[in-house]
Amino acid sequence: MNARGDFEDLCFEDWMPAVRSRVEEALSRFLPPEETAPKRLHRAMRYACLGGGKRVRPLLAFAAGEFSGAASSRLEIVACAVEMIHAYSLVHDDLPCMDDDALRRGRPTCHVEFDEATALLVGDALQSLAFDLLSCEVLGARQLEMIALLSRASGSLGMAGGQAIDLEAVGHSLDREKLELMHTLKTGALIRAAVLLGALCGESLTLEEAGSLSCFAQRLGLLFQVVDDILDSTASTEILGKTAGKDAAASKPTYVSLLGLKDARDFADTLYSQTVEMLSPFGERGGRLADLADFVANRNF
Ligand code: IPE
Ligand code: IPE
Ligand code: MG
Ligand code: MG
Ligand code: MG
Repeated sequence: MNARGDFEDLCFEDWMPAVRSRVEEALSRFLPPEETAPKRLHRAMRYACLGGGKRVRPLLAFAAGEFSGAASSRLEIVACAVEMIHAYSLVHDDLPCMDDDALRRGRPTCHVEFDEATALLVGDALQSLAFDLLSCEVLGARQLEMIALLSRASGSLGMAGGQAIDLEAVGHSLDREKLELMHTLKTGALIRAAVLLGALCGESLTLEEAGSLSCFAQRLGLLFQVVDDILDSTASTEILGKTAGKDAAASKPTYVSLLGLKDARDFADTLYSQTVEMLSPFGERGGRLADLADFVANRNF
């Protein structure tokens, strides 16, 4: 059955929790059981992936899959692969050698709950497991393209590269171009990959459609991190489930530090309008992606 068959009749408010619970059930199934040795590592991997998180990347993969008529059995695999890379990036991002955070998704961070060495290994193992999932035979003819897409989005020209720029930039101000590059890589690359992987699970898109979808996903990824910067400076720790005000405290360059809050909000509005524009040629077919762009722009956590 395709994603339309499983979820198409649901309004957005019902669709989000339905896809989230499908993805959470799949994550639980794909992660090694806690009883399997090495138990502490497996417990920590499950801790990092389960029990919290907005699941924006899996939702994007499912929405893009609905767009291309993809089977849910494929979508759950790519959705979990991206979410595992994301969870790994959070575990490493929180380590003392990076952002040194003690709270994530309303709970102690992985290295606080377990220990630093375990947290490092959790990241390593989640990354391997993500690619193991993508090697699953049900993904069909464009599987190699999917593997290349996720590996590039995760590596030094994607998420890991963006994190390197972020760490080098502590205590410095970046110009607008460099800040955009940092955000596009550290966060945007995986968001874009989530959309494109979901689309690749279904029917081929025309070149024009693929181009518009890629531009949509790129703007959405940047929007996601601009909103993250704004929330860091405006929302409470309690609502965010992670320590608020960390960027200013750690002297991180952000859109708020570069432009001020008002202009950062205006920029987020501009990016949101661009995402809507990119979807306009698709009409109703782009509805679910448009709802998600709205969610990303207006979220409060
Ligand atoms: C937080 O991502 C880190 C960034 C890339 C900005 P999310 O805001 O998606 O975190 P969860 O998955 O909902 O916890
Ligand atoms: C994190 O950016 C990006 C990645 C994890 C790749 P942040 O450092 O701003 O994320 P939070 O605010 O800790 O979630
Ligand atoms: Mg960081
Ligand atoms: Mg951080
Ligand atoms: Mg942040």
